[in-house]
Amino acid sequence: MEIKKVAVLGAGTMGNGIAQICAQVGCDVVMRDIEERFVENGLKNIDRFLSKGVEKGKMTEDDKAAVLGRIKGSTKMEACKDVDLVIEAVLEDIELKKSVFKELDGLTRPEVILATNTSSMSITEIAAATSRPEKVVGMHFFNPVPLMKLVEVIRGYYTSDDTVAATTEFSKKLGKITVEVKKDSPGFIVNRIMIPHMVEAIKIVEEGIASKEDVDIAVKNGLNYPMGPFELMDLTGIDICYFVNEYFYKELNKENKWVSPNLMKTMIRAKRLGRKTGAGWYDYSKK
Ligand SMILES: NC(=O)c1ccc[n+]([C@@H]2O[C@H](COP(=O)([O-])OP(=O)(O)OC[C@H]3O[C@@H](n4cnc5c(N)ncnc54)[C@H](O)[C@@H]3O)[C@@H](O)[C@H]2O)c1
Repeated sequence: MEIKKVAVLGAGTMGNGIAQICAQVGCDVVMRDIEERFVENGLKNIDRFLSKGVEKGKMTEDDKAAVLGRIKGSTKMEACKDVDLVIEAVLEDIELKKSVFKELDGLTRPEVILATNTSSMSITEIAAATSRPEKVVGMHFFNPVPLMKLVEVIRGYYTSDDTVAATTEFSKKLGKITVEVKKDSPGFIVNRIMIPHMVEAIKIVEEGIASKEDVDIAVKNGLNYPMGPFELMDLTGIDICYFVNEYFYKELNKENKWVSPNLMKTMIRAKRLGRKTGAGWYDYSKK
């Protein structure tokens, strides 16, 4: 089945990026969130990203208008009814994801693939909320979606070969490099590697071994990574890192290495008190 129309659930950091790249390859897109203000914010982010492309001469105003014209924002689930593919990017909460998938299962045609952009959670568990587990797959994009090249295509226990093949093909159409994660395991490949490195960076600061600035300098110049772990946590959001780490602790035998450091919990509390940046490690307003 040719994928001509895509529903993206969630208009946040990941959802609006996914909606944008689907529209850029010519698909009609419904971007659904629960409140109008979230939808509008998502559409504004897409507009801003595309405007930069126009400024840099990468696309014309007409191209930009055409991409925006293909994206319809909605707060209504029924708007996702007649699509050929669903990509879910709601909050990293398993109960929320299961309820969204149950609803999508009743709403969309039975042959439609239901993909989740979860960072860590079980595809098999999400699929169990539907009557079509063979059509449920992980489609894990990276932030910022229009720039990051990788998509991890993740098999749940029942995901069919056809679903993996179709998801891989569509990811390639979006210009992405794909890898197949053959087993449904927490954090898949990238986050299984990335989260422990963030946690270790926090422990180094917590133990007074080095400052966050020096940890970032060390990682960028010693490992040749483009960003330090603290810069990366500011971009991705420390709460997501924390939820993923807690999930690892629960799912991977409660080993000590997955225990979240106290400083991580403190930073999340600080963020709840109103810090604007992702984790609040750096105050960008002063830069
Ligand atoms: N932020 C990252 O770097 C990153 C990277 C890869 C994957 N992910 C994963 O992508 C997903 C989304 O993360 P995010 O960073 O975009 O979060 P976000 O908080 O920026 O956006 C999530 C959006 O989902 C909306 N939402 C909640 N319930 C909904 C529902 N029932 N229907 C539609 N929308 C609903 C929220 O209102 C919010 O706007 C999570 O599973 C996350 O783990 C995040």
